[in-house]
Amino acid sequence: MVAILFVCLGNICRSPTAEGVFRSLCRSKGLSEQVYVDSAGTGGWHVGNPADPRAVAAAAGRGIDLSPLRARQVEAVDFRRFNYVLAMDSSNFQDLSALQPGDGSAQLSRLLSWAGPNAPVDVPDPYYGGDDGFEQVLDLIEEASQGFLAHLIATGNVTEPAWQ
Ligand code: 4NP
Repeated sequence: MVAILFVCLGNICRSPTAEGVFRSLCRSKGLSEQVYVDSAGTGGWHVGNPADPRAVAAAAGRGIDLSPLRARQVEAVDFRRFNYVLAMDSSNFQDLSALQPGDGSAQLSRLLSWAGPNAPVDVPDPYYGGDDGFEQVLDLIEEASQGFLAHLIATGNVTEPAWQ
């Protein structure tokens, strides 16, 4: 079992979207039992709240249900609980680097470092923008999720079922 934590600022837009997209991708490939997926925010303003209704609606348009998810704040202990911590943007990455304990075993990276060479560095924060922003977030997260899953398969962290 490989444990993956997606992290953004509020845990109501980008990282719940990434949690839902990556869980759905793994399910479609028969890998659900091999991955544990969660998300959190560096900030605590929205703790306990559901995902932003715009994120829920955009994900639903692609067959992904974010409605059960509730926001939580990332903790130093997450670096011991998870194998991978994936930051949505460079600011999240910096905040997580500062939080990461010396004995934390998780591998910290930016999510879009797993996307193609033409991808931007950061998943843009869609909170203050329009609905287009949520579609762009989904596009970027879907691409990077494919790349990250390919990495997990290539490194033997997950094994594709024989029927694939
Ligand atoms: P997220 O978006 O980091 O993708 O969840 C945000 C949500 C809330 C706020 C900022 C970004 N906020 O300032 O409350």
